[in-house]
Amino acid sequence: MKKMKLAASLMCADILNLASELQKLEKNGIDYIHIDVMDGHFVPNLMLSPQLADQTRMVCNLPYDYHLMVDRPENIIPTLRLHPGDIVSIHAESTVHLQRAAAMIKASGATAAVALNPATPLEFLRDILPDIGMVLIMTVNPGFSGQKLVPQTLLKIERCRAMLDSLGFTDISIQTDGNCSFENIPKMLKAGADNFVVGSSSLFDPAYTIKTAAEKLRALDLSENI
Ligand code: DX5
Ligand code: ZN
Repeated sequence: MKKMKLAASLMCADILNLASELQKLEKNGIDYIHIDVMDGHFVPNLMLSPQLADQTRMVCNLPYDYHLMVDRPENIIPTLRLHPGDIVSIHAESTVHLQRAAAMIKASGATAAVALNPATPLEFLRDILPDIGMVLIMTVNPGFSGQKLVPQTLLKIERCRAMLDSLGFTDISIQTDGNCSFENIPKMLKAGADNFVVGSSSLFDPAYTIKTAAEKLRALDLSENI
């Protein structure tokens, strides 16, 4: 079982106090900063520019996890200033040149990942597996925070883990994005996910501080109890 990784969704952070939020995330053992890049076409929303992400690097040393919710991601990838250890997710639905886009990410030294919307079949992954290090299973439809889990995505995580293992890609990790709450993460973990985009449903729930939410999230990690 892989150790649980937490990717903090920057769009859910306190945007007026971004520098101190980033410092708290780093101090509390968060693994990645999840940057949602939206173009208003692939999803009906606009969000976080790569230039803003570059600025935030001045106060944060964590690896960045870019989630590109844009049409033709191959046009955006060259504008990202990627560091070793970063991840870039591209949607299978967003380009007919998925392998080319994944190869561009790999060539820059980051890990390429492929994201699937809730209704996109796992079969879209089969021929890109040699080029990627992570699959992002969307557990809500992309574009907005604060949505409810699409229930059939839990079984999809399980089927994805089984497919990856049966084809020999045991090292490829599975990230889930959308409604990763304290209640849903144990179900996602059990299904085989190991990397969680934590946003308004958990890490940035106003009932907690970043410190108390991070502690509660870490306590859910099954790999620690083996
Ligand atoms: C979009 C985002 C959202 C969100 C996750 O890709 O990553 O899914 O910030 O946080 P929740 O669903 O908990 O608001
Ligand atoms: Zn995301």
